[in-house]
Amino acid sequence: MIRTQVLGIGSYVPEREINNDELRFLNEKHEVCEQQQIDTNDDWIQARTGIRARRYVPSDESVANSDLAAKAATSALGNADVAPSEVDCIIYATLSPDVMFPGSGVLLQHKLGINQHECACYDIRQQCSGFVYGLQMADAFIRTGMYKRVLLVGSELQSHSLEFATRGRDVTVIFGDGAGAFLLGPKDTGDERDGVIYTRCQADGAGAWELYLKLFETRRAPYFNYDASDPEQNIDKYPQMHGKRVFLQAVRNMVISTNTALKETGMNWNDIDWFVPHQANLRINQKVAEVAEIPDHKVLNTIEFYGNTTAATVPLTIDHWYKEGRAKKGDMILATVFGSGFTWGSAIFRL
Ligand code: UT7
Repeated sequence: MIRTQVLGIGSYVPEREINNDELRFLNEKHEVCEQQQIDTNDDWIQARTGIRARRYVPSDESVANSDLAAKAATSALGNADVAPSEVDCIIYATLSPDVMFPGSGVLLQHKLGINQHECACYDIRQQCSGFVYGLQMADAFIRTGMYKRVLLVGSELQSHSLEFATRGRDVTVIFGDGAGAFLLGPKDTGDERDGVIYTRCQADGAGAWELYLKLFETRRAPYFNYDASDPEQNIDKYPQMHGKRVFLQAVRNMVISTNTALKETGMNWNDIDWFVPHQANLRINQKVAEVAEIPDHKVLNTIEFYGNTTAATVPLTIDHWYKEGRAKKGDMILATVFGSGFTWGSAIFRL
C-alpha cells in the first residue's frame, strides 16, 4: 500500500533577532527609536505569552516571503537529498503572500528553478492551520499517485504588517517571520504506522471576525479607500484579534482535536514521541498539555525564540529540535494547530 513519507525537513528564520525590550522602541520601518513606540514590556510579554524574541527580515525591501520559503525549501530538499527538478507539486501555506496575486507558490517554483512543465503550484490559506491542512492535501495527492515529490511550505513575513503603536500591541508582540518545509513522497509499505498516519482538518467560520486582517474589501468601490498613513483611518491595515476569545477556542479545540487523533488511530502517549502544537502562546500549549494529559517532556515548543510564525510554526519547531538533536528521523509526531478562520486540525506522522 502506498503511504506518504516525510523525505526531508528544513526551515529558515531571518538573522535579525528582536527581543521584547527592543521591540517596544521600533517604528514601522523597524528602526530603533529613542522614544518608546509601544507601551509594553518584557515582563508582560513573557508572562502572558512565553515569548522572549522573534525574528524580522530586513526592512530594505530585499526579502520577500517567497525568499524565506525558498531557503526553507532548499534546506528540506538538501535534507532529503532530492534535486529541485524532481519536485512535481508545491503546496504553499501563508497568510502573508508576496503580493495579492499570483500566489507565492509560482514565485517559489521560479526561485527554486523547478521545471515549469512538471510542477503544479497550489497556494493555501488557513492561517495558523495551513501546515496541517497542506499535509492533508499532500497525503491525498501522494496516496492517489497524483504527485511523487510534494514540497509543502509554511512561510510568513508578518513583521511589515504589524502596528508599531500601543493600539496594536496585543497582536504585534506575538508575531514573527520564518519558514518551514517538508518534502513528501510515496513508499510502498504494509506498515500502518509508517509515514503520515492521520490528518483531520476542521473549521468554524462563525469565528472569522475574532482574528482577521482586512487590508481591503472587494465589496467596496474603491476596494481600498483609506489613508494608510492616518491612524484615524487605517485600522484595516493591521491584524485585529479578540485575544481572550481566540485563546479559549484554541485550548478547547486543540484538546478535542488531539484526543480525537489518538482515539481514531488507537494510539496513546506511549506511541507518540513528540507533541508539536501551533506556537501562538505558550500558555495555550501549557493548558492543552494539562487538560489532554500530555507528558510535559514530550511537548516541543519554540515560541520563546521565534514568536508566532503562523503557517510555519509546526515545521519550524520540528526542524529546530531536529537540528538540536532532540527530534530524530523515525520519531512519531502528533501536531495540533488552531488559528484564524477559525481553522484547526491534527496530524500524526513518522518523521
Ligand atoms: O495564532 C493564531 C491564534 N492566536 C492566538 O491563539 C492568540 C490567543 N490570545 C492570546 O494569546 C492572548 O489573548 C494575548 C497574548 C493576545 C493577550 O493576553 P491576555 O492575557 O488575553 O490579555 P488581554 O487581552 O485580556 O489584556 C489584559 C491587559 C489589558 O489591559 P487592561 O484593559 O487590563 O488595562 C490589555 O490592554 O493587558 C493589556 N495588554 C498589554 N499590556 C502590555 C494587551 N497587550 C499588551 C501588551 N503589553 N503587549
